[in-house]
Amino acid sequence: MEFFDRNKSILITGGCGFIGSHLVRFLLDRGKKVIVLDDLSTGYLENIPVDHENLEFIEGSILDLELLESIKGKVSLIFHLASYVGMKLVYEKPDVSYQLSKQGTTNMLSISQDIPIVLFSSSAVYGNTKDVSKETESISIDNAMHYDGDKLGYAAGKYALEQLGSASMDENRDIMIVRPFNVIGIRQSSKYGMVVPTFIESALKHEPLVIYDDGKQTRSFGCVEKFTTCLYQLINTDEAWVKPNNIVNIGCPNSIEINELADTIIRITKSKSVKVYKPYDAVFKNKIDVRQRNPDLSNINNLIGHQDWPTVENIINNILGNRSTITGDTLVHSA
Ligand SMILES: NC(=O)c1ccc[n+]([C@@H]2O[C@H](COP(=O)([O-])OP(=O)(O)OC[C@H]3O[C@@H](n4cnc5c(N)ncnc54)[C@H](O)[C@@H]3O)[C@@H](O)[C@H]2O)c1
Repeated sequence: MEFFDRNKSILITGGCGFIGSHLVRFLLDRGKKVIVLDDLSTGYLENIPVDHENLEFIEGSILDLELLESIKGKVSLIFHLASYVGMKLVYEKPDVSYQLSKQGTTNMLSISQDIPIVLFSSSAVYGNTKDVSKETESISIDNAMHYDGDKLGYAAGKYALEQLGSASMDENRDIMIVRPFNVIGIRQSSKYGMVVPTFIESALKHEPLVIYDDGKQTRSFGCVEKFTTCLYQLINTDEAWVKPNNIVNIGCPNSIEINELADTIIRITKSKSVKVYKPYDAVFKNKIDVRQRNPDLSNINNLIGHQDWPTVENIINNILGNRSTITGDTLVHSA
C-alpha cells in the first residue's frame, strides 16, 4: 500500500502529545509531509519542531467537523491519537473523556472515507480482568465500564472508538485499530498521573515514591521509539490492514512489578527516596487498579516478526540523559 503521495500529508491528531510528538519526528526524519492537529489541551507546542519545512501545525479540535473537512483534501493517511490520557484526568472528567473519544472518532471516520486511518485505542479496553490480553478475546462495554468505575469514561470511550472503527471496516475501508500497552519515554508528562515520569520526578527531588496497593501489580512498559518503529512497520504491511489482523496489540512482552520499577528508578537516580504505599481506592474513589497487564503479541509477531524491546532500565537512562529541565511537569517534555 502506498500512502505517501508526495503532494499530500500525513495527518496526526494529538501530535503535540507524548506518542504523537515521536511519530511526528519519526515521519519528518523520513522525508514525509506532516500536518499536526492539536488543541494543546494537554500537549505542548514545544514537543514538535514547528519550524520544520515539512510540518504544518493547526491548533484546533477533532470536535470541529468544519475544520476537519477543510484539512482532509491535503491528507493521504491519518493517525488519530487525540484523546484525554492519564488517570488523574480521565477519572476527574470521565464523561468528557468518553464523549471526546466517541464524537472525535465519529468525526475522523466521517472525513476519512477513502483515506487510510489508524485509530488509537488502548489496552484499557480489556478492563481489569485479563491476565494475558488477546485481540480476539471478547471486548465488552461491561469490562470497559468496570475499568472506569462503572461509568462511561476513558475505557468505554476507547470501546466506542473500536465499535465505530469496526463498523466502518465492514464497508471495506482501510482502517487499523492499535492498542498500545504502557508506552514510556522522553516527553511523557507526569502531570496526569503517568507512573514512570511521576516516579522519576519524585526520585530526583528525593521525595517518597507513592505506590498504590501492595506494588505487586505488573505492567509491560514499552519504549516509545520501539513503539513508533513497530507502528510504521505495521502500516507498511498489507496484511495488517486486513480483518481480523487489523486490530493490533503493540507492547513489550516483558512485565515488571511496580515495586521493582520504583526500586530501579531509585537506584539509577541514586535517590534517597523511600517507597510509601496507599490504597488505590483512597486515591481514586471506587476504582480498581489492574493487577496484571500483559499483551498477547501473536498477531503483531505474525505481521512484522518478533521484536526485541529495550529494558526498563535502558529506557529510564535514556529519559534521564535527555531531560533538560526539572520543573514540575516539564521534567520530560522537552527533548
Ligand atoms: N501513553 C500510553 O501509554 C498509551 C497507552 C494506551 C493508549 N494510548 C493512546 O495513545 C494516544 C496518545 O497518547 P499519549 O500518551 O501521547 O497522550 P497525550 O496526552 O500526551 O497526547 C494526547 C494529545 O491529544 C491532544 N488533544 C486532546 N484533546 C484534543 C482535541 N479535542 N482535539 C485535538 N487534540 C486534542 C492533547 O493536547 C495531546 O497533545 C491516545 O489516544 C491514548 O489513549 C496511550
